[in-house]
Amino acid sequence: MALRLGDTAPDFTVETTEGPLSFHTWIGDSWAVLFSHPADYTPVCTTELGMVAKLKGEFERRNVRVIGLSVDNLESHRGWISDINETQGTTINFPIIDDHNREVSQLYDMIHPNADASFTVRSVFIIAPDKTIKLMITYPASTGRNFDELLRVIDSLQLTANYSVATPANWKHGDDVVIAPSVPNEDVPAKFPKGHTVVKPYLRTTPQPNL
Ligand code: BEZ
Repeated sequence: MALRLGDTAPDFTVETTEGPLSFHTWIGDSWAVLFSHPADYTPVCTTELGMVAKLKGEFERRNVRVIGLSVDNLESHRGWISDINETQGTTINFPIIDDHNREVSQLYDMIHPNADASFTVRSVFIIAPDKTIKLMITYPASTGRNFDELLRVIDSLQLTANYSVATPANWKHGDDVVIAPSVPNEDVPAKFPKGHTVVKPYLRTTPQPNL
């Protein structure tokens, strides 16, 4: 059955460019991003993996571990990493899964046969420390992902996990947030001491609580 938000992310044990790992144990108490790319030695993927390496500090600051995947083997990944480091001016600093047997890509439904019979599409899963899936996005092979957007979503998810808030359209770090409809009006002043605005009874905003 297809994975859905709120499901427990399937666990697996694999070989990676940083050694063998069991996914849930590797996540530990962190958040995780699991992302697939179509193939090694391809141009868009080269830029994507270089970008993820450059954003390591941003992921670490948010307690997020990142792991990549394609249906290529370790030897291929290792050769390609040299090219990524050379052309993108970075050092790959996260594991890439050897999924030549397509075990993980099938588990996570990353091969969409009507798009491509054998290669993975650009899937992204954001997984919370309790191992539930919080976000799934699928991009076509021809479109490189916007990793700033992934960081923005992680900021939003972590706010929601820690406070009774949601984030409005185009929200970015520092903007006001929306008070969750589940918070009764009488609880708002104590829960949101920075103040709040009632735009409509169902649309209440407050400054970002963790700043
Ligand atoms: C790429 O990563 O450049 C790519 C991969 C598969 C199809 C098209 C582009």
